Amino acid sequence: MSDPAPVPASRWAQAGPEATEGFGRRFAELVATGQDVDGEARLADALLPRGGRVLDVGAGMGRVSAALQARGHRVTAVEPDGALVEQCRATYPEVDVVHADLLELDDARVAGVLGDRPHQVDLVVCVGNVVVFLAEGTERRALATMRSRLAPGGRVLVGFHLVGGPEHARSYPPEEFVADVDAAGLRVQHRFGSYELHPPSDEYAVWVLSAAD
Ligand SMILES: C[S@@+](CC[C@H](N)C(=O)[O-])C[C@H]1O[C@@H](n2cnc3c(N)ncnc32)[C@H](O)[C@@H]1O
Repeated sequence: MSDPAPVPASRWAQAGPEATEGFGRRFAELVATGQDVDGEARLADALLPRGGRVLDVGAGMGRVSAALQARGHRVTAVEPDGALVEQCRATYPEVDVVHADLLELDDARVAGVLGDRPHQVDLVVCVGNVVVFLAEGTERRALATMRSRLAPGGRVLVGFHLVGGPEHARSYPPEEFVADVDAAGLRVQHRFGSYELHPPSDEYAVWVLSAAD
């Protein structure tokens, strides 16, 4: 068997801690002051069977994983940024977070990375601008990797800014995203403008994807 493809540094990693550590600080403050950080998780919960299996890829400091776990789902958080993994463990000790890149969840590596945790899930969560921080040129590979982790009938929830996104993130026009989704063996089931299911907008895109076949 050929060696698994290398995992290039994401735009997030390339931006470096000076550019990205404000994200963890901002969410620490929101959580500490009792603000609502569960919007994405409420929609994810609606997409899941009770007690569903979830992979939260690019889980950050774990807020979405924690909210889904509190709703009774079996969640694995996957996060490559070591500082965010530490923050997740400190903030939500109940969350099972794996220090890894989404691209390492391909068929060749998934068993080594996830061990006994489910390799096939009901929902892959990839929200909060993860796809616009992937390493350049890895979008199709990342989407195909998410596809490979879906149980029959499973879905992927993706959300990202179309304009006004974070610094160091790419711009990802909807047509290009949909072409990448198709090329990765997925298809768009729904597109919304928010996690509260507003109509599609030019500002933010929320996608529900399923396997194409
Ligand atoms: C803006 S943060 C969002 C974190 C979290 N999803 C949330 O909404 O709170 C973007 C995240 O994308 C992650 N990311 C970027 N490329 C990634 C990849 N190839 N695999 C996994 N995570 C990735 C970063 O490490 C970072 O945690």
